[in-house]
Amino acid sequence: MNPAPNLVLVGPMGAGKTSIGKRVADRFGLVFVDADQAIVERAGATIPEIFEHAGEAGFRERETAVLRELLAGEGQLISTGGGAVLSADNRALLRQRGFVVHLGVSVEGQLKRLARCTNRPLLQRPDREQVLREMAQVRTPLYAEIADLSLDTDHLMPPDATLRLCHLLAIRWQRQETPA
Ligand code: S3P
Repeated sequence: MNPAPNLVLVGPMGAGKTSIGKRVADRFGLVFVDADQAIVERAGATIPEIFEHAGEAGFRERETAVLRELLAGEGQLISTGGGAVLSADNRALLRQRGFVVHLGVSVEGQLKRLARCTNRPLLQRPDREQVLREMAQVRTPLYAEIADLSLDTDHLMPPDATLRLCHLLAIRWQRQETPA
């Protein structure tokens, strides 16, 4: 089974972390936890409200505090926000307390999936494509740095991505259990 206390999903906005995460958690009997949702509950404010009142820096502080709290637990599938990997402390913690899965998606895929999205403050700008490309440049190496496993979701609907990921996890975890 999962060699780490938690299963963690990282990856850019629109990669399917929440939709795939809920399904994979069900399959493996893990408690699904959305880190963004936990931030909202603890702050008593929406993500756009947090960005408006505390700025991105204030949001990132809350994000780190919530990740620390959640990762102290176990048996969870934790879906993280796309920017969670920006902090070296977060990355160290995610690796320590999680088996990390990187869900990938191209900028073209993000533009399609997020076309109607209004609740991601970093995307509420006219130059959305440019913003996403710059984010990908900075963040893709950081996702890769901490990932135990990666899956590109570009051409997969959530049910198919779930099947694929469950299969890859089962193989990996079985291999880790088998004595050399
Ligand atoms: C962010 C991604 C969002 C959320 C916040 C910032 C980012 O989460 O944490 O809007 O910096 O990429 P999702 O990746 O779940 O959309």
